[in-house]
Amino acid sequence: MKFKALSDTHFDFYFNPDTHIKSKQLSAKMNHYFEHNEENLSLIIAGDLGHYPKQNIEIFKILKDEYNYKEIIVTFGNHDYYNVSKTQKLDFKTYQQKDDYLVKLYEDNEIIMLNGNKVYDIEGTKIFGYPSWYDDSLYRREFHNMYSRDIDHIWKNSMNDARLIPGLDSLFDMYKYQNNKLILPKERIDIMVSHVRPFVSTDYIDYRYINDVTNTFYMFDGRELMDKINPDIWIYGHSHSHKHYVKDNIEFICNPIGYPAEDTRFKNFILD
Ligand SMILES: [Fe+2]
Ligand SMILES: [Fe+2]
Repeated sequence: MKFKALSDTHFDFYFNPDTHIKSKQLSAKMNHYFEHNEENLSLIIAGDLGHYPKQNIEIFKILKDEYNYKEIIVTFGNHDYYNVSKTQKLDFKTYQQKDDYLVKLYEDNEIIMLNGNKVYDIEGTKIFGYPSWYDDSLYRREFHNMYSRDIDHIWKNSMNDARLIPGLDSLFDMYKYQNNKLILPKERIDIMVSHVRPFVSTDYIDYRYINDVTNTFYMFDGRELMDKINPDIWIYGHSHSHKHYVKDNIEFICNPIGYPAEDTRFKNFILD
């Protein structure tokens, strides 16, 4: 299976969600990221697709029908759960309700949605994934006497997640929710996808964010998960900074598009 790994497309920062997108506009703004007629190529997108799911689907349809990508494989990121419009606020009162809606919408539109409960086999390549969520492990490692309520307090003051995800009062609620979904695969997995990085370390953090108070909200302690799944490749996002490295025999790829004018050092490369 030939594929491109990327994340954090944040489409609504590039296109007005109230108007229909044409393939010309897509190539005008995003031709650095997507190329026409890359034969038999699939896209794997590790979350933060965009705040307007119907717009995301519209773009994925263009990428499939006109750019000829074979499969679009996604998982969700924190931004995919945001309520950013009046209509969204009326429609979704809890994150669980929004999640159910999103999963159904993407599946109905033939997008492969990695939700922790199924392994997908694409031309013999086994892919598994789930949205995942961050935890407080980095804080706990550095400040041993920190209470969960203090961490929630920092979280509420530093991340939009608390404000924009409906019904989410504690970061731990979403952590449990995402992890409770997981049905671990019995077979060997080639590619694993999660929005958040699955190990706790100050390594591989962009130099701009060294000692940043929010760093713990960009990773989780997934040591057990890494051991159990043990994929060849692990694709993640959330951090808007390109990273590609091998750690514990796993090839990690974080290749975010990010916001317009943001320099994420995105790399356009194909993996086989
Ligand atoms: Fe993002
Ligand atoms: Fe994110």
